[in-house]
Amino acid sequence: MLSTGGGDCPGLNAVIRAFVKHANQSGKWEVLGCYQSFNGLLMEPTKLIPLTPASVSGIHVRGGTIIGTTNKGGPFAWPVKRFDGTWETIDRSDEMVKKCEILGIEAVVSIGGDGSQRISMALYEKGLPIIGIPKTIDNDLAATDMTFGFQTAVQIATDAVDKLVTTAASHNRVLILEVMGRDAGWIALNSAIAGGAEVCLIPEIPYDVNIINIVINERISRGKNFAVIVISEGAKPKDGCVSQIINDEIGYENVRLSGAAVRLKEELKIAGCQLDIRETVLGHLQRGGIPLAFDRIISAQFGTKAFELVENGQFGNMVAYRYPNIVSVPLKEVISKMNFVDPNCNLVETARGIGICMGDSSIY
Ligand code: F6P
Repeated sequence: MLSTGGGDCPGLNAVIRAFVKHANQSGKWEVLGCYQSFNGLLMEPTKLIPLTPASVSGIHVRGGTIIGTTNKGGPFAWPVKRFDGTWETIDRSDEMVKKCEILGIEAVVSIGGDGSQRISMALYEKGLPIIGIPKTIDNDLAATDMTFGFQTAVQIATDAVDKLVTTAASHNRVLILEVMGRDAGWIALNSAIAGGAEVCLIPEIPYDVNIINIVINERISRGKNFAVIVISEGAKPKDGCVSQIINDEIGYENVRLSGAAVRLKEELKIAGCQLDIRETVLGHLQRGGIPLAFDRIISAQFGTKAFELVENGQFGNMVAYRYPNIVSVPLKEVISKMNFVDPNCNLVETARGIGICMGDSSIY
């Protein structure tokens, strides 16, 4: 049984297709897709989707996931309405494991990010034969050199920077682009370098708005009356916290980040920025659409390796990219370490080296 959990991500369908093709070629397996992460298994009636070579034909180029996904609910936090109309969450994990046994499900493949792999690990500890595949546009899993979907998101963000540079220059404006990146600034950092932004603000390096203002003023004194700033949704000012809003979606347990760009705009105005400032929030555009070739290829490799692990009964592992190989890593290891941007890493050094202000220093 395959499941896709958490936010959608370019390449999910390519993973599904690769896995189903291998299973079919082996002649020994039938593959089911669990609707919307593991929720389909817990729904009444159960919602499991047969996956055949015909149903996955040509889907590798399609965004989204043909079996649906969600970042709400799940076996350990299933939302239930109380009599007074409020909601509570209950643990249905034992019921889920039992249901898999009853249905004769011999292997579960969970395609998801850190939250999903934590669930995979907990289910594995309850006896579920499970394998993980790393998915997230944020690229924040340390166990793999890269997650699928990340390269496509970086390209989408870079295209946005390219477009904002020309309009910023035409209007003499400061244009702020807010990109995804809850805890890790990889999308912001890569797209700022690729697109040639002036400022890049990431969760790992708290920013000082006065420094950003100095950088903009220096540009103005050199006759450059515009600037493009790329900011991660999870970026925060020095001594400040992330910008978030209350989420009213039932069962949504993540902190809902929102407003980093708008807040920066106001901070820059207060700091005395002389130029007009506008913000663009790229949002879910980064997760949708056609995956780049790189993501389709790595997704096919992940699907292939996951099938190999299923065949060999190597449960409790996640497939991972360790250039140039696809390997398997124990889930325990996967959930113990995240991949954050090291402020001293080569990519940050490169950004500073080509004149990008990281919000902490105007000297680069
Ligand atoms: O985990 C990937 C991610 O894209 C984060 O960067 C972002 O905060 C989150 O998903 C938003 O998810 P959703 O829009 O589904 O709530």
